[in-house]
Amino acid sequence: MAKATDKKAADAYTYVDHKFDVVVVGAGGAGLRATLGMAEQGLKTACITKVFPTRSHTVAAQGGIAASLKNMGPDHWQWHLYDTVKGSDWLGDVDAMEYLAREAPAAVYELEHYGVPFSRTEEGKIYQRPFGGHMQNFGDGPPVQRTCAAADRTGHAILHTLYGQSVKNHAEFFIEYFALDLIMTDGVCTGVVAWNLEDGTIHRFSAKMVVLATGGYGRAFFSCTSAHTCTGDGNGMVARAGLPLQDMEFVQFHPTGIYGAGCLITEGVRGEGGYLVNSEGERFMERYAPSAKDLASRDVVSRCMTIEIREGRGVGKNKDHIYLHLDHLDPAVIHERLPGIAESARIFAGVDVTREPIPVLPTVHYNMGGIPTNYWGEVLNPTKDDPDAIAPGLMAVGEAACASVHGANRLGSNSLIDLVVFGRAAAIRAGEVVDRDAPVPALNEAACDRIMERFDRLRNANGSQPTAELREKMQRAMQEDAAVFRTQESLEQGCERITAVWKELPDIKVTDRSMIWNSDLMEALELENLMANAITTVFGAEARKESRGAHAREDYKDGPMGGRNDEDWRKHTLSWVDESGKVTLDYRPVHTDPMLKPEDGGIDPKKIAPKARVY
Ligand code: FUM
Repeated sequence: MAKATDKKAADAYTYVDHKFDVVVVGAGGAGLRATLGMAEQGLKTACITKVFPTRSHTVAAQGGIAASLKNMGPDHWQWHLYDTVKGSDWLGDVDAMEYLAREAPAAVYELEHYGVPFSRTEEGKIYQRPFGGHMQNFGDGPPVQRTCAAADRTGHAILHTLYGQSVKNHAEFFIEYFALDLIMTDGVCTGVVAWNLEDGTIHRFSAKMVVLATGGYGRAFFSCTSAHTCTGDGNGMVARAGLPLQDMEFVQFHPTGIYGAGCLITEGVRGEGGYLVNSEGERFMERYAPSAKDLASRDVVSRCMTIEIREGRGVGKNKDHIYLHLDHLDPAVIHERLPGIAESARIFAGVDVTREPIPVLPTVHYNMGGIPTNYWGEVLNPTKDDPDAIAPGLMAVGEAACASVHGANRLGSNSLIDLVVFGRAAAIRAGEVVDRDAPVPALNEAACDRIMERFDRLRNANGSQPTAELREKMQRAMQEDAAVFRTQESLEQGCERITAVWKELPDIKVTDRSMIWNSDLMEALELENLMANAITTVFGAEARKESRGAHAREDYKDGPMGGRNDEDWRKHTLSWVDESGKVTLDYRPVHTDPMLKPEDGGIDPKKIAPKARVY
């Protein structure tokens, strides 16, 4: 009886079916770099995106992209690797981090050749600025100038270039299509179903490889630098496919979101000489991080700002934020290298940065966790016998993925390089494993019907709570209970509050039943995706009884490592969530060994052995 009704639900829609070698979901930096790489190799490639490609959230990336080019002083890929390992608080996978640091220069030169208009030095080389946590000489030297920039609009420049190149290479774009779910056939991903927002048709893509490049889930929180589109859609799809998410408890707060508005003020400001002050006019970072000062890593700076505010040294009427000064900088430098943030500060804070400080506050910015992958972008489905077993037919890249190259905390400007290095790696791998001559897998109609049952249920949802109401409950719980500082109590409360919202999901109210540009329905679908992210985040955080990177627990802060417990907790969290909101946790080992041996030019493993993280 249920079956007949369900079939009827699926039959109510108009379908268009497609066959591709590769389907990439998402057109940010990682999605476009993967799309371009696939298309360049002659793979028949589709890219599905819910927004126009150049409006993807990568467009908002400001400060730059890390690579040891040595254009502005000494640097070495091994220093970059060391900084990334230390920044990750020894949770990142060393093979993935090594791959990133070694491949970064080639990936940036490739971008330059594709046409990215980088800022230039006097000699015409790519301009590089200092960024938080990037230091010379294995952390023993001063900040290194490693972050390649196109003024303060680096993501914008990269995104436009990669989109142009992808079109040139005949990738097919499906723009303003909302991906609903993965088509899974006996544990293999064989495609994806998407809703064309413009005409209401449903598109069933069969593919030999699906690549998720759907970005982060900043919008699970009340205040974030992320676009409204950052709703963790790929992570939601993976969770519904019964696959795990990894290290979800690690959520990065960027030190300088504009107070009240949340918009990003790039770390590049501090790279160019800007600094933070408290209500006493003190440059307090000198006290907490005597070497790196304002250029300590983000989790450290965010915590120091929070402590200053808590201890009564915040600025403003309510003493609840901090000032970022760049009014001492030459206006010509601001005009040339930081024009975008001067504009944002004027629009969103009413501040002229040449005369006044910008009011700032730590704001949710990035998700270190996501879909577990190896450094080729292949999605992992760990088993008892093989923690690195792959889920066939599925890849993930960019912020949606957890390679794990950022571990417990990402360094600024390591995100853009992650997007292009691993987007490119996924394309190289797909070129090896996708058999161009093999037939595309047959459409799994039964799986598609199940996907449409869920879609139809939400479309006709007739409960009592509008999406916005449920979303705000989730966002407030995450903001308050999974914050910069966490305790057992706050995390237990977070688990309870998010579970309660999960239980209320069946009571959701969608008023618009149409199929064309139905943003009411789209937001309901996005909320379900966000909830899969939110619930795995709080449960993973509650279970992790230590402080590490962005996961700072006030009840675990003592000892030589500042609350970090490598013996018990140097391991990745895996989390599954079922339809009822039950979260299951398990763990897999961190990859601790470099790939290259020292005699072949690799790093001496002793250099990256765990130690206390001090800046
Ligand atoms: O501060 C920034 O420009 C952000 C860069 C990043 O998140 O990598």
